[in-house]
Amino acid sequence: MELSGPVTLPVGPFRLRPWREDDVNAAFAALVDPDTRLWNAGWVRTREDAAHWLERRQEWTLDEHASWAVEDAATAVLVGSVSLHSIDRDQNDAEIGYWTVPAARGRGVAARAVDAACQWGFGTLPIDRIELCHAVENVASGRVAEKAGFTYEGHLRRSYRYGDGVKHDELLWARLADDPAPLL
Ligand SMILES: CC(C)(COP(=O)(O)OP(=O)(O)OC[C@H]1O[C@@H](n2cnc3c(N)ncnc32)[C@H](O)[C@@H]1OP(=O)(O)O)[C@@H](O)C(=O)NCCC(=O)NCCS
Repeated sequence: MELSGPVTLPVGPFRLRPWREDDVNAAFAALVDPDTRLWNAGWVRTREDAAHWLERRQEWTLDEHASWAVEDAATAVLVGSVSLHSIDRDQNDAEIGYWTVPAARGRGVAARAVDAACQWGFGTLPIDRIELCHAVENVASGRVAEKAGFTYEGHLRRSYRYGDGVKHDELLWARLADDPAPLL
């Protein structure tokens, strides 16, 4: 797909921007948080792993994924990550993943970042449906889905192996392009 390249999206007090090589230390610190390792990136253990994780997200391959760092717009401190991935241009759909650094949780970072990435995807790629899955035990992630305008669609049994090596049941949510945008 011909697009000019990674885009920056202002989102209230936050900003979605392309990942940079010099994010490696902040990304490493975030990725070794126990909750992030459990629910997002269990394989990241070393700074080299984090550099590999980062390298992958710096690619802007809209046939596969569009990934952003989320930073505090006032301080430029990294507060989170959001990624539209598994972009399928035949089916016009994608999946979304995200995390927030522990110090910034509970401030609406994830809900706003997810909403912004969805709106960008619906308007630009274009895609018509975005799926979001989280482990049943990850209640905060379900709240993010709800706040970001997703509709609960079902319970998937032992559907994904998370960072603890266990296959967890997941809840499936989806947002369609013509679903009402959330009030955030
Ligand atoms: C899940 C996660 C991304 C949420 O990020 P965040 O920036 O704090 O999210 P938001 O502030 O937008 O919303 C979180 C909501 O969950 C709620 N919440 C947090 N912990 C909760 C819990 N244990 N039980 C119920 N609700 C909870 C918050 O109160 C908030 O809801 P509110 O705005 O109605 O008060 C963050 O906790 C995280 O990074 N966790 C580890 C990685 C992860 O789980 N990624 C998602 C994988 S699917």
